[in-house]
Amino acid sequence: MKVTILGTGIVGRTVAAGLGNLGHEVTIGTRNVESTLASEQQDAYGNPPFKVWYADHQNIKLKAFKEAAAQADLLFNCTSGQASVAVLESIGDEILNGKVLVDVANPLDFSQGMPPSLSPVNTDSLGEQIQARFANLKVVKSLNTMNTFLMVNPSMVQGDHNVFVCGNDEDAKNSVKEVLKSLGWRENLIIDLGDITNSRGTEMLLPIWLRLWGALGTAEFNFHIQTN
Ligand SMILES: NC(=O)c1ccc[n+]([C@@H]2O[C@H](COP(=O)([O-])OP(=O)(O)OC[C@H]3O[C@@H](n4cnc5c(N)ncnc54)[C@H](OP(=O)(O)O)[C@@H]3O)[C@@H](O)[C@H]2O)c1
Repeated sequence: MKVTILGTGIVGRTVAAGLGNLGHEVTIGTRNVESTLASEQQDAYGNPPFKVWYADHQNIKLKAFKEAAAQADLLFNCTSGQASVAVLESIGDEILNGKVLVDVANPLDFSQGMPPSLSPVNTDSLGEQIQARFANLKVVKSLNTMNTFLMVNPSMVQGDHNVFVCGNDEDAKNSVKEVLKSLGWRENLIIDLGDITNSRGTEMLLPIWLRLWGALGTAEFNFHIQTN
């Protein structure tokens, strides 16, 4: 499958590498290929510049967002949540219409410092905003409730733990569930919450996720929903 990952950060890189290892033809999208390859900057978490990672992943292509998205069978939104709608606007409806987008982003707002708040929140969500703006894009919110390394390697955390999906298009959700299974997520651990309004719930797990990260001193944990 031709998969395009929108985003050059640690999430984009990790999802790209994970899907590349499964044999998919993977392209990463960025604003400006030249400046992304020239950048010497680490990200906010101390990850090395993109070019350092890219040198070890020659099977993955890097293109501008629009060009990268044009050829995709499946898209992943791994951009900064505050910029996601603008990134998709720059790609445009003509290219996005009919495609499936896995929305991994969280609308974290760092404008008031740490810890970040969420914007939008409560009665709206980033997943819904993307779906509302791009009516013919099939948005499936998933994977946003865990650390990125776990997304493509669920066995990193021992025992049973869950990944959530939600979205309006059943076929799109089913195709994303197949991708999740190929990454190692067992079917019984994939919880389908329903339509895209459920993005509110998964995005609003971020405030507790961030505090658990601080309290536990590690990002290697996940939510496990236990039922009788
Ligand atoms: N870190 C985790 O473990 C984790 C887990 C779950 C969900 N998430 C979510 O995953 C997403 C990606 O996180 P990340 O840490 O990998 O990367 P990030 O730093 O949040 O975002 C990097 C990407 O966003 C683009 N971007 C940033 N500002 C932009 C702007 N003003 N206009 C257009 N594009 C812009 C960058 O474009 P360029 O390539 O052009 O620089 C880059 O591709 C976020 O929404 C985050 O909340 C993260």
